[in-house]
Amino acid sequence: MRVIISVFLIIVLVFTTVSCSDDITAGELSKEIVDQIKHIQTHFVTSLKPDCQNMQQVQLDFILYKQDDYDNPIILDPGDPNEIDADKNVILIMHGWLQDANSSGIIKLKNAYLDRYDANVIILDWSQIAKQAYTVAYCHMQRMSIQISKFLCHISSNLGVPLNEVHVVGYSLGAQLAGVSAQYVKSKCKKQIGRITGLDPSGPLFQNLPERRRLDKGDAGFVDVIHTDQMKFGYSGSTGSSDFYPNCGQAQPGCTTVKDIADDTTLPEIMCSHHRSLDYMIESVGSDHFIGVTCGMCPRYCRPNIINEIYTVMGEGATPQSRNNNKFYLTTKNVPPYSEGWTLSGAKLP
Ligand SMILES: *[C@@H]1O[C@H](CO)[C@@H](O)[C@H](O)[C@H]1NC(C)=O
Repeated sequence: MRVIISVFLIIVLVFTTVSCSDDITAGELSKEIVDQIKHIQTHFVTSLKPDCQNMQQVQLDFILYKQDDYDNPIILDPGDPNEIDADKNVILIMHGWLQDANSSGIIKLKNAYLDRYDANVIILDWSQIAKQAYTVAYCHMQRMSIQISKFLCHISSNLGVPLNEVHVVGYSLGAQLAGVSAQYVKSKCKKQIGRITGLDPSGPLFQNLPERRRLDKGDAGFVDVIHTDQMKFGYSGSTGSSDFYPNCGQAQPGCTTVKDIADDTTLPEIMCSHHRSLDYMIESVGSDHFIGVTCGMCPRYCRPNIINEIYTVMGEGATPQSRNNNKFYLTTKNVPPYSEGWTLSGAKLP
């Protein structure tokens, strides 16, 4: 009997572990995608070319979570999303390349938000495009942004959701998508999104594009950006109204470059430094313990600006700063909890 119970427990354990981590593994990726990952990790100046031959209709799902049920979302009808409670804040999460709405980091971020706020937390699922080659997904940015802007303008005009209080949080390609969508909102319904948080916005193919093709500081009332993998998957250099450079914005501690990508290597392991931007954000929603200090020459030379030393919270608790104080440096630990555990009132030099 005892043996049967133990076997049963082991089976249950194995299954729950598997179903908790809905992250794609290298073995599930096509050779083309694995080659693109390797290419991006080794070449700063990428020779990737947009592959816009086969443009597709995009299928987007807006998945609404509320505090009363963390696990059973409502798939909104974009033409009639009346389950959104217009009296509560709207937080819109956009996943990154190769992810979907069930990816572990995205679900953790959603849960952290529901723990903190009684809000409408909406995850945009654009996985049908996100799971394709980077060079193909890139081509669909405009097309998806137009659809997203329609949704946002619709909830503004039909449900009375104040867009200037909406917070869009985008990771990787999802951060670029957030920026371009907000630009279409401006032209379509003359409204400005309140805040966009860009979690290591994608760099390859976006680097040095004009601002109208990527996330930039003009896209929302406040644009805060966390850089964790510059020169690789992440955009290099400041692009928000506040830019945060944990560990100088690249090669995060505890991350090693995965040289030989094994079949069971998960996406967060393959793109460890890139994914840290999402991990830091999740932790910040629960704690406000990441404290950045003004940095004059970030990310080239990451040292606190001792002449004008100002501390501020990175992540969810970030607030707009003056134009002259908009680059911040901080250090993190190499295992969770990643923050050094400081608070704004007891801040110390990194
Ligand atoms: C996410 O998980 C739910 C529940 O298991 C499932 O119904 C849904 O199809 C999944 N979504 C994606 C994009 O995989």
